[in-house]
Amino acid sequence: MKFFFSSGPSSNKKPVSSEEQQVEDYLKKNIRHYLPSYLVSQDDEPFKPNKRLMEVGIEASKIAFDTDLSELAKRFYPELQTYINTYPGEHYKLLFALMKVLKPKTVIEIGTYQGAGCMSMKSALPEGSKIYTYDIIPFHQIPNCGLKESDFDEKLEQRIVDLADPKQAENQMDILENVDFIFADAAKDGVMERAFIDLFDRVKFKNKPIIMFDDIRFTIMTPIWREIRHPKLDFSSFGHWSGTGLAEWI
Ligand SMILES: C[S@@+](CC[C@H](N)C(=O)[O-])C[C@H]1O[C@@H](n2cnc3c(N)ncnc32)[C@H](O)[C@@H]1O
Repeated sequence: MKFFFSSGPSSNKKPVSSEEQQVEDYLKKNIRHYLPSYLVSQDDEPFKPNKRLMEVGIEASKIAFDTDLSELAKRFYPELQTYINTYPGEHYKLLFALMKVLKPKTVIEIGTYQGAGCMSMKSALPEGSKIYTYDIIPFHQIPNCGLKESDFDEKLEQRIVDLADPKQAENQMDILENVDFIFADAAKDGVMERAFIDLFDRVKFKNKPIIMFDDIRFTIMTPIWREIRHPKLDFSSFGHWSGTGLAEWI
């Protein structure tokens, strides 16, 4: 995934030592895109991964590694094709694999955008299951969108709803209560994810859903991820390079 905001090299702090300058030079020369992040200790994290998260993660990462999404990728523009075909490092094959492992009946994606996430999941979704992909902008208004009207069927529905707005979210409770897997991939602005977490804590989930959070290694996401009070697993090395978190909402 490409990010549309400023990255490490041009931002704020100047390197203070020649070693730091060497690192900076190396990054500039060799890495397409890099961002600052925090390393955080784990012994003092009370909400550790549980057995289910470990087992699901290990199984899904094995499947993801052997998955070929090159046919699906062809409908998207070249740069996005590259991301879809990258694993580990990007999360599209992991999303596919999680559908294989969890066999969810009801899936929610928060943030449809160009459709790469929902179509990766749809291509592994069991018969009789359904993905509700939420956005505040309809897919046909998104530039370079890979979705077509005909992709929307009994397995995929887009809902134009702001789930960060408690009033709008209230009307989606029938779907939320029955969900098995949620992919939270909206703004990552330090505000919206907190609104989603508050929402998830209000929902009376029936099925112990697994919730996958994107971009948890962003500096702005560090406190948000840390404050989640449910079993959780930082799965970044087996997901998106900007951070992938799996939490079980029990
Ligand atoms: C990073 S993109 C999603 C990428 C997509 N999930 C994928 O895997 O290809 C973020 C999307 O979230 C949408 N969004 C922003 N705020 C939202 C909200 N409150 N509820 C639902 N979607 C939102 C944006 O319009 C944008 O299309």
